[in-house]
Amino acid sequence: MNNDLKRMEQFYSSRENNAWSLFKCYPFFLASKQLYVLTKILDEKKLHRQKILDIGAGSGSFILNLILLGASAENISAVEYLEDRFIQLKTRLPNIHALNQNYLDVNFQFKFDLITIMAVLTSITDNTSRYQIVSKALEELEENGMLIIYDFFDEKETFLSKNYRAISMKKIKELANNYKIVEYKKVYLHSKIAKGLCKLNLQEFIPILEKLKLFNANYHFVIISK
Ligand SMILES: C[S@@+](CC[C@H](N)C(=O)[O-])C[C@H]1O[C@@H](n2cnc3c(N)ncnc32)[C@H](O)[C@@H]1O
Repeated sequence: MNNDLKRMEQFYSSRENNAWSLFKCYPFFLASKQLYVLTKILDEKKLHRQKILDIGAGSGSFILNLILLGASAENISAVEYLEDRFIQLKTRLPNIHALNQNYLDVNFQFKFDLITIMAVLTSITDNTSRYQIVSKALEELEENGMLIIYDFFDEKETFLSKNYRAISMKKIKELANNYKIVEYKKVYLHSKIAKGLCKLNLQEFIPILEKLKLFNANYHFVIISK
């Protein structure tokens, strides 16, 4: 795991100048679709009362979405390994309980109603540690709790680049074999097509093509509960 964390640190620090921004067309559509799917998943959940943990929180963009949907900052815990991102997270969300650690080293004294692992597992290329993260998250769920994983899936666990590796639904199902699993499959249009439409100023077609699912990539939301 340690080598993998070092690699991740180098990769993300080389990327920080090319910041993710909602003023850019493609990130905007990704973020709005994510929010839309979350409203379907979390419909009717009394988020303001839920104890929430976000693993690999980055600079907190996803937690801001949870707060938009009603979660209380005071009930949110977050773990982020990279120091730069952790500092941004604390600056944006000073009232959450945030830890600058490897999640696998953290000991929580209580359990959570909702745990989220958003676009984290594919950035860990070491299979043992990323599936350990899923097992630990399942152990930290309340009896009626829910774990949401959002990521890129394929059974061959293909390296999408040196820094990203797809995850296997089969393995997730093995780890969560006593749980109910609901999948929202292929939620995003393939990035090359979406970016192309953005370039041509035809971004209105992104949600329409996404609905067809024919050209969507293997990004799934997976909801795991008892
Ligand atoms: C692609 S970013 C996603 C950030 C955020 N979840 C979001 O959706 O905006 C992946 C993040 O996971 C963090 N991460 C990866 N492995 C981790 C670990 N073992 N413990 C804590 N954070 C980790 C990385 O530092 C990085 O910030």
